[in-house]
Amino acid sequence: MKRGFEASLLCLGCRASQWALETTHEDEREVREGTLRCERCARSYAILKGILTTLDPEDETLAREVNGWHQLAGPLAESLVSTMTALPYYPHPPWPHLAPDFFQIFEYVDFHDKHVVDLGAGRTWASRHIATMGQAREVVAVDVLTRRFLGLETADVFYAEDRKHFERICGDVHQIPLKDGWADVVFSAAAIHHSGQRERLFAEAWRLLKPGGTFAFVGEPSKKASIPDRQPQNEETAVGINEHIYSFQEYMGPLKTQGFRPRHLAPRSIRYRLAYPDPEFMQGLFRPLRRLSRSALGRRLVTRLVRGRFTGPLTYRYSNLPLTVIARKPGA
Ligand SMILES: C[S@@+](CC[C@H](N)C(=O)[O-])C[C@H]1O[C@@H](n2cnc3c(N)ncnc32)[C@H](O)[C@@H]1O
Ligand SMILES: [Zn+2]
Repeated sequence: MKRGFEASLLCLGCRASQWALETTHEDEREVREGTLRCERCARSYAILKGILTTLDPEDETLAREVNGWHQLAGPLAESLVSTMTALPYYPHPPWPHLAPDFFQIFEYVDFHDKHVVDLGAGRTWASRHIATMGQAREVVAVDVLTRRFLGLETADVFYAEDRKHFERICGDVHQIPLKDGWADVVFSAAAIHHSGQRERLFAEAWRLLKPGGTFAFVGEPSKKASIPDRQPQNEETAVGINEHIYSFQEYMGPLKTQGFRPRHLAPRSIRYRLAYPDPEFMQGLFRPLRRLSRSALGRRLVTRLVRGRFTGPLTYRYSNLPLTVIARKPGA
């Protein structure tokens, strides 16, 4: 955490922003070890390897999420540095399904000189690209995971590469210690479906955003409306990770209720997956669309249908598809 960043923060205990910063180790980049203490309520937050830690140790849901990811990842060796610096371009799933959708967002969201929060940032590769390519003024990556090559400590790999700083907060995306209206953009890649409380998460994004700000998320799985299950059975849920599957309307409805003006894009990865079909994707596709996908012309048409203001919601209603949403908070 950079000295001075505390001016952007508020205490999760009492909502005040009166801080005493005690540092035990600081380098040319930031405070690496220390404590941030609230002068109003005396609650203190550790700074460990530059990461501000605000996680509630009593929260069992989050503890399950952390343990699950650790179990799934197994040992993580230093040889992973080159893989990390390649992210999100890594030629094995899920990355080819996420990378095109991530870079598409730069055509629709202007990060230049903006304050950005990355919800469920994981290894922080998206924060890295938003800070470098996107030229954001300040980026804050929030996640429960800290482990190098799995969570926020991976930011050190990117710093060594780019010399571009961004902040990392180990904490819950439903309660982020940033001041109201701090952010111009709240971004998330493939993390919203980990929340069992979308309404609370969208309310937090709303609170963080300035009027006129943008909430953008990519890579969210969206299930066809006829599937009643909210909890998938996969290798992630088997180890206790909080996975959910929501439908298009289950994302859009609560966003609108919150006051956002959301619209969806046609994620680029759809075209890729139509051209290089994998069984999971094809089975989730509405049968007439599956037939269309056999020709180049048909694939173009599918993308148009996904993108359409009226055809889009219908296509999502009958298909499992990745979802990209750009939601504006009205105002300025
Ligand atoms: C599928 S991963 C995506 C990570 C990253 N955005 C990416 O695209 O590589 C979901 C992330 O959400 C994080 N997460 C889940 N629930 C969270 C919560 N309540 N607060 C903070 N992070 C959470 C997980 O730790 C995990 O890193
Ligand atoms: Zn306090």
